[in-house]
Amino acid sequence: MLKITVMVSGGGTNLQAIIDGIESGLIEDAEIVKVISSNSKAFSLERAKKHKIDSIVIGKENYPSQKERTKAIIKALGDADTDIVVLAGYMSILEADLIEAYRGRIINIHPSLIPNFCGPGFYGKHVHEAVLKSGVKETGATVHYVDEGVDTGPIILQESVPVLEGDTVEKLAARVLITEHKILCEGIKKVVESMLTYEGGK
Ligand code: GAR
Repeated sequence: MLKITVMVSGGGTNLQAIIDGIESGLIEDAEIVKVISSNSKAFSLERAKKHKIDSIVIGKENYPSQKERTKAIIKALGDADTDIVVLAGYMSILEADLIEAYRGRIINIHPSLIPNFCGPGFYGKHVHEAVLKSGVKETGATVHYVDEGVDTGPIILQESVPVLEGDTVEKLAARVLITEHKILCEGIKKVVESMLTYEGGK
């Protein structure tokens, strides 16, 4: 069984998709061992509690220094014996020490077709605002490995989503989320399978 820690900041519909993906058997040989939230008010924490998943808040509110925050996250990941870190609506940038410690084992879901509408400042609804402003007819979602850049790591999976006439940020975000939930589960499944192949089981 590979151990997944999910890092969140908000509502946690992607966290819920992973929980459901594991419970339904879509994602095999993996379990969520911990949820780390950057925000004590995140609804994600309720979701974790409901499914009896251990959670911890590590954010600016309790760790104002970024160095101390990174140290606390690395400790929490280690305490949970984490194999894979999933950023599921996590709105902070990870420091290099953390990326180095978990290189090739951190994945992120991003609500656009990378390399479009990504990088610094493109997160959450800002992504969809920019998409609508640009007039493109297609957007999407991407699951990728995390490296030292912002949304620059190797792509694992991506899928397009149409932008429709009369779309608002809310309507478009809701349509993209459906695809996010699907490809995040498929992406985790792929990563788990490749890790088990390389590591010869665990
Ligand atoms: C999702 O759309 C996710 O892709 C995005 O925030 C939303 C979180 O929703 N993440 C980013 O923008 C990260 N750069 P959720 O809390 O319901 O999963």
